[in-house]
Amino acid sequence: MSMANLFLLIKFLFFFASHPIPFLVVAHGSPWSFVNEGGGIDPTKTPVFIVHVEKTRNARFTRFGELKNWYMSFLPNATLDSGEPRMVYSYRTVIRGFAARLTDEEAEDMEEIPGFITAYREQEHTASTTYTPTFLGLKGTASKTLWFDSSMGAGQIIGVVDTGIDPYHASFNDAGMPPPPVKWSGKCFWTNTRTCNNKILGAVAFRHRTYANPEDNDGHGTHVASTAAGNFVSNANVLQQAAGTASGMAPLAHLAIYKVLFVGPDGRSVGTDADILAGIEQAIRDQVDILQMSLGSARRAMAQSAVAIGSFAAITKGIVPCAAFGNDGPTASVLANDAPWILTVGASTVDRKIVASVTLGSGTVLAGESAYQPASFPSKQLPLSFPYKFLKTFESKGCILTELQKLNLQGKIAMCYRSSIADYDRGRNVLNVGGSGMILLNPFWQGNTTNAYEHALPASHLNGTGSKLLIDYYMNSANPTASISFSGTQFGINPAPAVAVFSSRGPSFTNGGIIKPDVIAPGVNILAAWPRPVGPIGGAHFNFLSGTSMATPHVSGIVALLRNKHPNWPPAVIKSALMTTAYTLDSVGNPITDDFLGVAASVFAMGSGHVDPEAANDPGLVYELYPYDYVHYLCGYYRDDAAVSSIVQGPVQCARVRAIAPEQLNYPSFGVTLGGTTVVTLTRRVTNVGEAGDAYNVYVDEPDGVRVDVIPSRLQFSQVGEVLSYDVKFSLTGAIPTPVVGEVKEGRLSWISGKHLVGSPIAVTIV
Ligand SMILES: *[C@@H]1O[C@H](CO)[C@@H](O)[C@H](O)[C@H]1NC(C)=O
Ligand SMILES: *[C@@H]1O[C@H](CO)[C@@H](O)[C@H](O)[C@H]1NC(C)=O
Ligand SMILES: *[C@@H]1O[C@H](CO)[C@@H](O)[C@H](O)[C@H]1NC(C)=O
Repeated sequence: MSMANLFLLIKFLFFFASHPIPFLVVAHGSPWSFVNEGGGIDPTKTPVFIVHVEKTRNARFTRFGELKNWYMSFLPNATLDSGEPRMVYSYRTVIRGFAARLTDEEAEDMEEIPGFITAYREQEHTASTTYTPTFLGLKGTASKTLWFDSSMGAGQIIGVVDTGIDPYHASFNDAGMPPPPVKWSGKCFWTNTRTCNNKILGAVAFRHRTYANPEDNDGHGTHVASTAAGNFVSNANVLQQAAGTASGMAPLAHLAIYKVLFVGPDGRSVGTDADILAGIEQAIRDQVDILQMSLGSARRAMAQSAVAIGSFAAITKGIVPCAAFGNDGPTASVLANDAPWILTVGASTVDRKIVASVTLGSGTVLAGESAYQPASFPSKQLPLSFPYKFLKTFESKGCILTELQKLNLQGKIAMCYRSSIADYDRGRNVLNVGGSGMILLNPFWQGNTTNAYEHALPASHLNGTGSKLLIDYYMNSANPTASISFSGTQFGINPAPAVAVFSSRGPSFTNGGIIKPDVIAPGVNILAAWPRPVGPIGGAHFNFLSGTSMATPHVSGIVALLRNKHPNWPPAVIKSALMTTAYTLDSVGNPITDDFLGVAASVFAMGSGHVDPEAANDPGLVYELYPYDYVHYLCGYYRDDAAVSSIVQGPVQCARVRAIAPEQLNYPSFGVTLGGTTVVTLTRRVTNVGEAGDAYNVYVDEPDGVRVDVIPSRLQFSQVGEVLSYDVKFSLTGAIPTPVVGEVKEGRLSWISGKHLVGSPIAVTIV
C-alpha cells in the first residue's frame, strides 16, 4: 500500500502555509499557539448516527415540534450512562431525519420501525488577494466588465462552512457595503463583545450543540472567506511580498459564517457529518445564495457525505454549492465532493512567483520561491550540506531536528526534502543548529509546483526539475556551494496556469463516470486574510496558502457576481456557464500543463478547464438540470430506494422512476465507456441564453481511435430561452493501433457561433 493510500480517509483540502504534503495530516507546526477546541470524533463517547426517515402515510406535521417528537419516537427509551442527551440535531431542511447518540445495536434495532430509511455513523471531514482578480480578468470598474455589471456581488450572501472567521480583520470592513437583504434573519453569535456588520452578516458554530463561538482559531476559514468576498484593503502583503490592494472576488458580497470545523488536539481542523449538516441546514434556512465548502473527505459515497446531501438540499432552494476537489494529487481517483449537483473545483497555479533563485558553484541558476526575503542576507556562495548523504535516514531527508543535531551545519545551506513536517518547522530546525539557509527540494511526486512560504530563515523552494539538477551537482562536486538571491514578486512566469500537483485527480469511481473536477481556479500561493501576523519578522495579517480550499472561494465569489447579473439562472445554469466557457490553453497558447509531469493536463485533472468569469457572464448556450433530473440519475446509478430517498428527502421508488445511465444526465461534459463494436448515443439539451436568431455549428476534436457523430451538426435558434437537443454517437473507429482496455481517450465537443464558443470535454474510457 502506498503512502498516498494510507491516508485516504482523513485529509486537509488545503495546504497549510507551510504544510508540505496533502495527505500527511500533521500539526500545523506553526509558530502560533492554537486553542484546542476539541475537534473531531471523541472515541470515548457514544457514537453519533445520522438517521434518515420518511413520513409514514398518515403522519402530518404542522409544527416543527411535532416533527421533533416524531423523530424522538425512533430513539431508545433507555438513557445513556454518560447522561448525554440522545438527540444531537433534529433536521428539518437539509435532510428528513436527525443525528443521535446510539450504539451500533440500537441503530440496527431502529430498522424495524416504520418510516426508517437508513442510518450510518457520522465520520470526520477535514478542512481540506491582491492579484487573482486581475489574473482572472476582473479588471477595475469600467462599464461592460463583470465587476461593474454585477455591482461586485452586492446583495449576494455567501455562506462559508468552515473554521469560523476573524471578525476584526481589515478585509471584513463594511465600507461601501449595502445593508443586509430583507430576507436575512440569521444570527450573529459571538461569545465576545463583537457584533456583526454589513460584511459579516452572521456567524454561528455547530459542535454537537456544545460550542457556539464562531471565532477562527485556525485561519483557514478567514482566508477562504476573504478570498470569496473580502472587501478592499490597501497595502496587503506577506512579509512585503505580493504587496497591493487585496480584495476578494466579490468585494461587495455579504458573508454568513457557519463554523463546523474545530482545531483538534493534533492541530488539525476537523468536523463531523452531524455538524456539517447542521451548518448547511442553518445556511439554507438563512437563505444564503451560495454555499462555500472547502472541506470534505475523499472516496465518500454521495449517499453518506454531508457535503453531497446538504448540497442537494441547497440546489432545491436555488443555492449554488461550491466545494473543493481535495489535495490528493497526483494520485489518481482519490477525490472529494464529486456529486453532479456540486460545482467541484480543482487548483491551478498563477503566473506570479515570489522568486528566490539558487546559483550553484558551477554557475547554474535554478528558479525557486520564498516569501521571506531579508534584504540583509548576502547573496554569496556558501557550502551546501545534504544531511541525508551522511545519515541515510528518512528523517534526515526531511531535516528533522534530532537528525540535524548530529551534524555541523554552522554557516551552511541545508538541502531538505519536503516531508511530513511543516516547512516552517523544517527551516526552524536548520536555523536552530546554526544553518545559514535552506534549499527545499520537491520529491518526484510533488512535480513542479513550488510554494512561496514565510520560512524561518533565508530559503528557496525548487521545483522537481531544479531539485534533481541540484542533487546531481551536489553528488558530483568535491566542494559543493550555492547562493540564494531574492528578486521579489515577479509576474508573467510561464507555464501558467498549470494544474497544481496536489490538486486531486479523477476519474471518480463514486459518481458513475461524470467528469470531475468541473473547473480549476487559482489555488497556489494565494494571498488572503489571516488572523495573525506570519513569519519570522511579523507584519501584515495576510498569508499565502495553497490548496483546492483556496481555489474554491475564487469560484464562489465569481458565482456571486454571476448571480447578481443573472438572478434567474438556477444553480446548474451558473455551473454550465462556468464550465462551457472555461479555457484550456495557458497564457502562451499551449495546452494547460499538469505540474506533475509537465505534460498537457488530462480532463481528470482540469475538468472543463480554467474558469473565465467574463466569458461565463455570456455563455451563449447552457445545459439545464433540475433536482428531478438528478433523481433519474440517482436511480440509474444506485438502483437503491433507500440511498436515493435519503439524498432527495424521499420517498422515492426507483421502479417507478425513469432511471437513466449517469452519462445521459444533461451534464456539460461527456464521460463515456466504450468497447468493441458498441455504439453509445447520448442526448443533450441546450438552452439559448444569447440572442434570438443565434446559430451554432458543431466542432469536434475526436479522441484518438474514437468516432464522434453529432446530429444535427447545426443548431438554429429563433428565440431566447429556446431549447434544442442533439445526439452524440460514440463508436470505436477500429483504426490501428486499437485502443487498449483501460485507456482513456480525450477530446472536445464545441458549439461555435460568431460570438460564442460552448466547449465540453470528452473522456472515453476503453472497456
Ligand atoms: C418507549 O416507551 C414508549 C412508552 O412507554 C413505548 O410506546 C415505545 O415503544 C418505547 N420505544 C422503544 C423504542 O422501545
Ligand atoms: C523548474 O525549474 C527549472 C530550473 O530552474 C526551470 O528551468 C523550469 O522552467 C521550471 N519548470 C517549471 C515548470 O516551472
Ligand atoms: C517538470 O517540468 C518539466 C518540463 O518543464 C518536465 O520535463 C518534468 O518532468 C517535470 N518534473 C517533474 C518532477 O514533474
